[in-house]
Amino acid sequence: MLLINMELKTKSLILRELKESDAQSIAENANNVNVSKYLVVVPYPYSLKDAESFIHSTMEAAKKVPRTQYDFGITLGNEREAVGMISVEKIKIEDGSCTIGYWLGEGYHRKRYMTEAFGRVIEFSFMELKLNRINIAAFAENEGSNTLIHNAKFKLDRTLKQHVRDRATGSLHDENHYHLLRKEYKI
Ligand SMILES: CC(C)(COP(=O)(O)OP(=O)(O)OC[C@H]1O[C@@H](n2cnc3c(N)ncnc32)[C@H](O)[C@@H]1OP(=O)(O)O)[C@@H](O)C(=O)NCCC(=O)NCCS
Repeated sequence: MLLINMELKTKSLILRELKESDAQSIAENANNVNVSKYLVVVPYPYSLKDAESFIHSTMEAAKKVPRTQYDFGITLGNEREAVGMISVEKIKIEDGSCTIGYWLGEGYHRKRYMTEAFGRVIEFSFMELKLNRINIAAFAENEGSNTLIHNAKFKLDRTLKQHVRDRATGSLHDENHYHLLRKEYKI
């Protein structure tokens, strides 16, 4: 199955694949250590050039058949700018599995936007991509992300102690690994 230029809607958001014109807004929102300190690969500071090359890499990945990732920019209703990201990555057709990752600009936190986006992308992974298992990892101290994951009924597989450094601050983190199976999923 080849799904291209995907757009997913929720009550307040449109999730759509990234384009070159998102670079400015992605750079502005990702260039914040309160966001990147919870992400493994995002550097701080984060420049316009970083955003451009990241967006380019997602556009190249989108051409792969079969697709192994979908990178959605999070946009608010009719506004065009992507103020965060949610990605379905590491799609393994043979295992029916994927990993979800996400972030939102700090000015948009705690408005239930990621609850909406995460719910829609879980639905997309199970119902449209027909995957069987979603994996997700969050630093143990990331209260917001762990709450979001618990609310979506993911189960904790294990906590890996001092497992990973974030690129923004270089700190080492304990990391919680979770999963959700399609048979456990209810819309
Ligand atoms: C984690 C993140 C995506 C949450 O997005 P959000 O849109 O603010 O989350 P929501 O508003 O949908 O809230 C979801 C739940 O988490 C709770 N929550 C959100 N942020 C929180 C925080 N900083 N501290 C404690 N609880 C928090 C909310 O109260 C809500 O819980 P409830 O439904 O039980 O009331 C956002 O804070 C973010 O982008 N952080 C930086 C990057 C990051 O951590 N990415 C995830 C890496 S695993």
